[in-house]
Amino acid sequence: MNKIPPKGKIKVLKDGPYLVTGGVPLAEELVRTGQDGEPEGWEKGRVYPAAEQYALCRCGATKTPPFCDGTHLRIGFDGTETAGSDDYLSDAEKTEGLEIDLTWSAKYCAIARFCHRGGDAWTLAEHSDIPENRELAVQESCDCPSGALVAWDKKTGRAIEPELEPSIGLIENRESGQSGPIWVKGGIPIESSDGMTYEVRNRVTLCRCGASKKKPFCDGSHISCAYKSSR
Ligand code: FES
Repeated sequence: MNKIPPKGKIKVLKDGPYLVTGGVPLAEELVRTGQDGEPEGWEKGRVYPAAEQYALCRCGATKTPPFCDGTHLRIGFDGTETAGSDDYLSDAEKTEGLEIDLTWSAKYCAIARFCHRGGDAWTLAEHSDIPENRELAVQESCDCPSGALVAWDKKTGRAIEPELEPSIGLIENRESGQSGPIWVKGGIPIESSDGMTYEVRNRVTLCRCGASKKKPFCDGSHISCAYKSSR
């Protein structure tokens, strides 16, 4: 899916942090919320100083967020990876539309809810012969940070992906005061603790609250545990 050559790498350390190498840029990504309370876009937040290598907390309990301070050792963090090695399409459900199709994968969904803005993306896709519906369904799928939702052009059969530079975002929702997952953009390879490389994708979200049942990916559990990275 990704046209940009990946830069850098993320290594999931056993029961420990994400080790990021290769000088991958790091910044906060702020959810912009509409009047209806649903997410409607993204804004850049704090940009962290460039670093060749850094370790991002994966247990959710560091005192130096977003970086690991070794707390995972003290609390006995169980970071067992349960996501499996299946690729996106083997797991995704397909919805046929008139101009575009949508695929959605429970494995990757971080419950970011961009797919509900101005009518849900699936209904919009089904009626995508109307240009406004097509445009909004594509926008909603492109705003999905985890890439759980992907729009496909029926004529070309190709995925419609946003252009994302290889970088890492730390999702924050200032409206709710909650933090979200780590947004990995631009096809950065992610290697499991046992040496398996997950499918390289243009966008995925990694758990940083420690509570996901689909580690290393976020499954939206940060919402029920009211995760705040600065706690
Ligand atoms: S950050 Fe989403 S489940 Fe942990």
